[in-house]
Amino acid sequence: MNIEPNLNQCRAFVLFGATGDLAKRMLWPSLYALDCDGLLSTEFQLIGAATSQLSAAEFLAKVKESIQTSANKELYNDAAFAGFANRISYVTIDIKAPGGLEPLRAALAVNTNIPDERGTIFYLSTGPQLFGSICLGLRDLGIVNKASRIVVEKPIGTNTETARTTNEAIGTAFDENQVFRIDHYLGKESVQNLMALRFANSIFEPLWNANAIEQVQITVAETVGVDGRWAFYDSTGALRDMVQSHLLQLLCLVAMEPPASFTPSAVRNEKVKVLWSLKPITGTDVNVNTVRGQYAAGFSGGKAVVGYHDETGANKTGGLESDCETFIAIKAEIDNWRWAGVPFYLRTGKRMQERMSEIVIQFKPAPHNIFADIGATLQPNTLLIKLQPDELITLTLMHKKPGVNETRLGEVGLNLSVGEAFGTSRRRIAYERMLLDVLRGNSALFVRRDEVEASWKWIDGIIDGWRTTGHQAKPYSAGSWGPTAAIALTERHGHSWHE
Ligand code: BG6
Repeated sequence: MNIEPNLNQCRAFVLFGATGDLAKRMLWPSLYALDCDGLLSTEFQLIGAATSQLSAAEFLAKVKESIQTSANKELYNDAAFAGFANRISYVTIDIKAPGGLEPLRAALAVNTNIPDERGTIFYLSTGPQLFGSICLGLRDLGIVNKASRIVVEKPIGTNTETARTTNEAIGTAFDENQVFRIDHYLGKESVQNLMALRFANSIFEPLWNANAIEQVQITVAETVGVDGRWAFYDSTGALRDMVQSHLLQLLCLVAMEPPASFTPSAVRNEKVKVLWSLKPITGTDVNVNTVRGQYAAGFSGGKAVVGYHDETGANKTGGLESDCETFIAIKAEIDNWRWAGVPFYLRTGKRMQERMSEIVIQFKPAPHNIFADIGATLQPNTLLIKLQPDELITLTLMHKKPGVNETRLGEVGLNLSVGEAFGTSRRRIAYERMLLDVLRGNSALFVRRDEVEASWKWIDGIIDGWRTTGHQAKPYSAGSWGPTAAIALTERHGHSWHE
């Protein structure tokens, strides 16, 4: 099999946190799928690194199980797995001990007699507090060269200051063009299609601004609760967990200026300008422009579920219950010419009524209703972009209802179903695309250092406002659309959430 030349720039992939949850659910199944597609060269080594003492056979059994229970399980077959397993090895490491990364050197088996300009990809699927020590350890081991790459998962820090410290620690061993910061939302087909919709068509661009658009809504609703991650979640909350990364990235794709090309710098330059233009929400502004919520007991998928305080692992320090938000709604504004005065409503939450992520662009109403005398009301046109679980784009238009006696009007949707339009090819895990881009060295869909720091700056302002005003999370029943205050957030401006 001939491998694309730029897929051959790296000789090995080292996965730190190789036995962790993300590795199990996403990374091994994605690497396996790429191998099944013939995209990994035969000598490309995969090295799992973690703290557990495991034999090679025990580790491979874990990798096999993770593929057989993943979204890619239908791809599993013994022969393909045997080929995949051939390239895998496992090393036990101790990140905190001096020399604790040493086993990697032997596993990488660099042949010093044959000069090899190719690099190694280091994927840190570990807690961010370890990023600094791992990077320094790798540098000191002398196994990083100019062709090496490092992939890090969110969250990068917990505020601007810690994000900077983490980025600086990464920068001690890797140049910025070697760093791939993953936001897995950018790997979703439907999210990438946002750029195609905006920049591969000419009909939307003239209308894509404050003259024609009344409001924008971005919702990422989940039905799951904290999913056994109470301790992590409680120190994080929905604003840091979802808005700082996924929702702000979606906002950037909707609001950015057209980049000159699809190169990493061109795309990321335009995204960061949106983040810089976000109007700060600070001090008492948080009371009018944000709503925090926390789920109480209720129903999810027809089953009774407990509230946040009664989740497994919940900690009630000194009898006090946590005020962590599991829901957040924000009215954001972008202070620039294109978007002046257009509200961008952002909303995300756990234990919501249904799992759905969508973007709604609502256009301004028609300036004059010539049908008013015959009792017809006009609804504004809406472009609905459903990202998950279904991928669908609908443009709603006013239309005459068939009939001869009177002119009655109704809303009709022009629907584009991606599944119907392009057939039902296998749905890819977002990480397959992201890993392939790392192999190719294409960082357009990865988050640059200045983007991370600009988004934290805006988030820090909100958190500071909550702290100084004592802003509390409001309870909402599991299985609802969040606290009623979230409805008031939009209705105050004459808008309603799309549900
Ligand atoms: C992660 C968050 O980044 O995204 C999780 O940490 C959240 O809390 C998840 O559940 C949602 O991702 P997806 O792809 O299921 O929408």
